[in-house]
Amino acid sequence: MAMAIICSGGDAPGMNPAIKKFVDYAFKLGEKPYFIYDGLEGLIDNKIKEATHHDVAGIVHIGGTILRSSRSKRFFDPAFRKQAFDNLNAHGINGVIVLGGDGSFRAFEVFSSEYPISFVGVPSTIDNDINGTQYCLGVDTSLNVIRDALDKIRDTAASFNRAFLVEVMGRDCGYLAVVSAMISGAEVCVIPEVPFEPQRIEARLKDEVAHGRNYILAIVSEGAKKTREVFDWLQDNIGLETRVSILGHIQRGGNPTVYDRLMAFEFVVRGMDYLRQNAHANKVVVFNNGEYSFIDIKEVAGKRYQLPQHYIDAISYLD
Ligand code: F6P
Repeated sequence: MAMAIICSGGDAPGMNPAIKKFVDYAFKLGEKPYFIYDGLEGLIDNKIKEATHHDVAGIVHIGGTILRSSRSKRFFDPAFRKQAFDNLNAHGINGVIVLGGDGSFRAFEVFSSEYPISFVGVPSTIDNDINGTQYCLGVDTSLNVIRDALDKIRDTAASFNRAFLVEVMGRDCGYLAVVSAMISGAEVCVIPEVPFEPQRIEARLKDEVAHGRNYILAIVSEGAKKTREVFDWLQDNIGLETRVSILGHIQRGGNPTVYDRLMAFEFVVRGMDYLRQNAHANKVVVFNNGEYSFIDIKEVAGKRYQLPQHYIDAISYLD
């Protein structure tokens, strides 16, 4: 079997260590590793090349992905999937490690139902919103980037009489926001999963401000779509001059942490072993309660990720 690796959808820190492990482990197994560049777009356009040790030298500590990625609309078109299969076939590739999210896994499931292509998905997104796994590659690095930003924002917030509202990524999932709020001691956290009810905390915060609290840190998840509302509330109701920082794509960058490098290695080695042992793998390697396992794409893509209750409860500890 010849195996390839592809990154699809949003990049995540940890992809490069995964790519390096993929190449090193393939050589150890005596197999030819292939790279697919530019995600599904590159698969359609035959941006496929045999990988060498040289390609992965010095990449383990770098964020993003040396293979680059894309969000492909063309792959929805059966004619382009046929073209993609012809490209893989021409290289003798029949197994693919897919670093991506549920959308990418769904695309590969359709692809592998049409053509003799086997794949294993490695959950990779800073959002930690893939159903069936407690951990996705990139999350720890992203949380550390956010932590670093919040520590710095707190320095300046503490030097003025101000509220700071920090909007964090996460798509429709509040995971990054809740964890960041917990570890930064934020006073307010707003996530899509919990209705924003300012009246629950308003009286207490106003009282604290009246008795000497001179700054407030509020974390708002992008998916809540409440940034403007929370800003107005802090400024008009709580009565603190307010500044907004939207952290944006810096949350997707940065050198992968120790944890993301280790998780990259574990996910990839297990994924490759599974591919070799199963002619029609078509699974996602997941991590739950300290254990790795393989689950069906349907389980991953068919259900929406539910933020565990203890994170939802954590919001009320801030009250
Ligand atoms: O899924 C990762 C993510 O960074 C989300 O947190 C964010 O909503 C989205 O991707 C941004 O996508 P893009 O990079 O295409 O703007």
